[in-house]
Amino acid sequence: MGKVTPDAGARTALISGVTGQDGSYLAELLLGKGYTVHGLVRRSSSFNTERIDHIYQDPHQPGGRSLVLHHADLSDGVALVNLLRELEPDEVYNLGAQSHVRVSFDAPLYTGEVTGLGTLRLLEAIRASGIDTRLYQASSSEMFGAAPPPQNERTPFHPRSPYGCAKVYAYWSTVNYREAYGMFAVNGILFNHESPRRGETFVTRKISRAVARIRAGLQDRLFLGNLNAVRDWGYAPEYVEAMWRMLQRDEPDDYVLATGVPASVRDFLRAAFEAGGLDWHEHVGFDANYERPSEVDALIGDAAKARDLLGWEPAVRWRELAELMVRADIEALDAELSGARVRIDR
Ligand SMILES: NC(=O)c1ccc[n+]([C@@H]2O[C@H](COP(=O)([O-])OP(=O)(O)OC[C@H]3O[C@@H](n4cnc5c(N)ncnc54)[C@H](OP(=O)(O)O)[C@@H]3O)[C@@H](O)[C@H]2O)c1
Repeated sequence: MGKVTPDAGARTALISGVTGQDGSYLAELLLGKGYTVHGLVRRSSSFNTERIDHIYQDPHQPGGRSLVLHHADLSDGVALVNLLRELEPDEVYNLGAQSHVRVSFDAPLYTGEVTGLGTLRLLEAIRASGIDTRLYQASSSEMFGAAPPPQNERTPFHPRSPYGCAKVYAYWSTVNYREAYGMFAVNGILFNHESPRRGETFVTRKISRAVARIRAGLQDRLFLGNLNAVRDWGYAPEYVEAMWRMLQRDEPDDYVLATGVPASVRDFLRAAFEAGGLDWHEHVGFDANYERPSEVDALIGDAAKARDLLGWEPAVRWRELAELMVRADIEALDAELSGARVRIDR
């Protein structure tokens, strides 16, 4: 393993996107290491903290709180400066984003505003507040887009979506602040990583949820777009560990995180349906609305640098991932249905 501080002590971290898939796993990881974790939550008319409810402590209860939530938004630069000045976190993880590639074609300016400019706002807020902190930027394999695989830190970017373009802007802004101001700012270039906490509109979760619902008789058909796209799918909890390791190095740098194992959407689909005892041919239909105007054919990462310098190697591969996601969705649905029956019985 690389130069990683073994005992984090009582450090503080600020996470944007704490309510998302990665944010929730990262918050758990950092709390486990003894950090005080501050999470940036955007205002919503309905509860959006489902993924972190199990680690949140009511401030009215006695005893210290180690997870503290703050309302703020990556579109509000002043709020970011004020928050950073107040908290002076040792580490900042910028995971907040409009993170859905297909949606970015429908909302390109908003995606640029939050995913691209939002990162610049955070960088500028760190500079303006004058605090000494380390920044992790959630960069993406979507930046590689049309560049042929395998992709690594030296592969030129060729994004194929507003999301990919916004992430490229954020990537270079992060590098620029490192070079211009000597900021400890790193890019983690992460290939797809999934989990039972993946948003329900992302293809892997859409599939695992559908398997559970079809088995339970709640749904019969699942509509998908391009099944030929090849991706490199890993397991999200393993990836957040590497985010933390990047910030424990002596020098800031950029790292690809990936399994290096390719699988098509069709492969994942087949494995997930098999895990649920179903044949996908009987249930899956095509809907052109789910296709991207410009597609990314194959993303397959080469994470040798992360292995050598961070001592990071993922264990979970796409097939196991499909199985664990299906299992989790079946269990969650069973619990929901039996809960519903209990309520009806009452
Ligand atoms: N998962 C992957 O495969 C992958 C791969 C490469 C890079 N990434 C990037 O890694 C980061 C984390 O991914 P994820 O899968 O955890 O994404 P996610 O589940 O979609 O979470 C995104 C987070 O960003 C928050 N957010 C959205 N707009 C915001 C705004 N205007 N201001 C502040 N926060 C905002 C969301 O809040 P709400 O909960 O209120 O919506 C949510 O907490 C993202 O930046 C994503 O683009 C992900």
